[in-house]
Amino acid sequence: MRVIEIIHTIAKMQSYAEKSRGKGNTIVFVPTMGYLHAGHLSLMKEGLKHGDDLVVSIFVNPTQFGPGEDLDTYPRDLEKDIELVRKEGAKALFTPDAKEIYGSRYQTYVALDKLPDHLCGLSRPIHFKGVATVVTKLFNIVKPHVAVLGQKDYQQLLVIGRTVEDLNFDIKIIGAPIIRESDGLAMSSRNSYLTPRQRICALSLYESLQNARRLVESGEKDAAKIIAAASDLIKSHPETTIDYIAVCNPETLDDVKTIEGPVLMALAVKVGTTRLIDNMILKP
Ligand code: PAJ
Repeated sequence: MRVIEIIHTIAKMQSYAEKSRGKGNTIVFVPTMGYLHAGHLSLMKEGLKHGDDLVVSIFVNPTQFGPGEDLDTYPRDLEKDIELVRKEGAKALFTPDAKEIYGSRYQTYVALDKLPDHLCGLSRPIHFKGVATVVTKLFNIVKPHVAVLGQKDYQQLLVIGRTVEDLNFDIKIIGAPIIRESDGLAMSSRNSYLTPRQRICALSLYESLQNARRLVESGEKDAAKIIAAASDLIKSHPETTIDYIAVCNPETLDDVKTIEGPVLMALAVKVGTTRLIDNMILKP
C-alpha cells in the first residue's frame, strides 16, 4: 500500500524537502485548492514523468479571492482528496491552514506589472497578486525542482512562468493540457455549483471555442467577427452573463485584431452565479 505523508506546517514541509533533496530526489510539485478532479490528477500524472518525489498542496488561498467571491463556500473534501493524491503516487500532501501561511502580521506580496491587466485580472483585480504571492511562498516551502500547472488557467500559467523567470526561481514550469468532461465542459471544482439546467448552458463555453476554431481554420481573420459569433452563441443560453471573450497574443495577452498566426481565445462567463473560464489556441 502506498503511504503518503500529510504535512500541515511550513517547518515540517521545508525539512521534508531538504531531506528529499539530500537523497538526490527530484521534487515535482502540483499546487491546488483541493476538491480534486481528473484535471488535477492529470497534472500529478504528468509530474511523475519529470521527477520521483511528487508533492501536492491543498490550500484555499484567501488572498486570491476578492470581496463577494466564493472563498467561504469553495468546495472542500479533504478526506477524499487525500485518498486521490495517495493513489496517484504522491509522497507528501501539504495542507496548511491560512494562519500558518499568512500569520497575523503578513505584509509581503508579489505583484506583476502587465500580465494581470488582461482577461481575468480586469474583473478580479487582486486575484493574480494573491496567486503570485501564494505560489512564491509555496515554492519556498516545498522547494520543488519542477512544478506542473494547468493550461485551463492560462493566464495564471503565464503569471507563474513570468514570476519564476523574474525572481530567478530554479524551477522548471510545465503547462499541462485542459481535461474536459466527455461532453467538452472543462473540469473545474466550481462545476459542482451548477444546477442540471446550468450545466447544459455551461457547455456553450466549449461550443463557442470549437466554433471559433472552425471559423479560423476556414480562413476567418477578423477577431471581432469570431468574438461576436461566440457572444451570440453564449447569449442564446439562459442564465449566462459574459465577463469577457478575448482573442489575444498567447504570450503578452494583448488583443489581436487580425489573426495571422496562433492566437489565444479565452473567455469567462457567469452561469447563474458561477464564474467559469475556458480557452483554446486557434491556429489559422
Ligand atoms: P485549482 O483551481 O485547484 O487548480 C490547481 C491546478 O489544476 C491549476 O494549475 C489548474 O490550472 C489545474 N486545473 C484545474 N482544472 C483543470 C483542468 N480541467 N484540466 C487541467 N488542469 C486543470 O489554480 C489554483 O487552484 C490556484 O490558483 C493555485 C495555483 C493552487 C494557487 O492558489
